[in-house]
Amino acid sequence: MTTKVLMVCLGNICRSPTAHGIMETLIEKEGLSADIIVDSAGTGDWHIGKAPDPRTQQAAKRRGYDLSHLRARQVTVADLDDYDWVIAMDRQNRQNLLNMASDANRDRITLLLEHAGQIDAEVPDPYYGGEQGFEQVLDMVETACAALLERIKLQRVG
Ligand code: 4NP
Repeated sequence: MTTKVLMVCLGNICRSPTAHGIMETLIEKEGLSADIIVDSAGTGDWHIGKAPDPRTQQAAKRRGYDLSHLRARQVTVADLDDYDWVIAMDRQNRQNLLNMASDANRDRITLLLEHAGQIDAEVPDPYYGGEQGFEQVLDMVETACAALLERIKLQRVG
């Protein structure tokens, strides 16, 4: 059975593509690409069809992650039925997702940093800040994606 993971931020050009690329790399390294599928989306619609922000791409590339093939899309109600894990980067986006969700799929929606043991903590939006913000996103997302993958693996074996 395939497990499907959706990373969600506001624009789908900074944080969630970073999480998408990092999670995919971790899954490939563990030989689980046939078992765990990752995608990303934004709650906003401004950047639909666009590649990740150049600052996001450059920061990720320095750590060996190529995000150039990714294109932004907007999250849909159908995604919330389709994806087993819907991972929000911050509380506002989690709230937006909860507002779209039915009772049956609310439990699928969590914050990324929860999986690293940081309850209610957020991956800060780097869009309007300096280069350091993009490095901070990478640090947080690398740690939390590793923890999330361990959790998904445990859940898969039941
Ligand atoms: P993201 O960052 O949600 O991490 O992709 C943002 C990208 C664009 C905007 C806001 C946040 N924006 O307002 O256009």
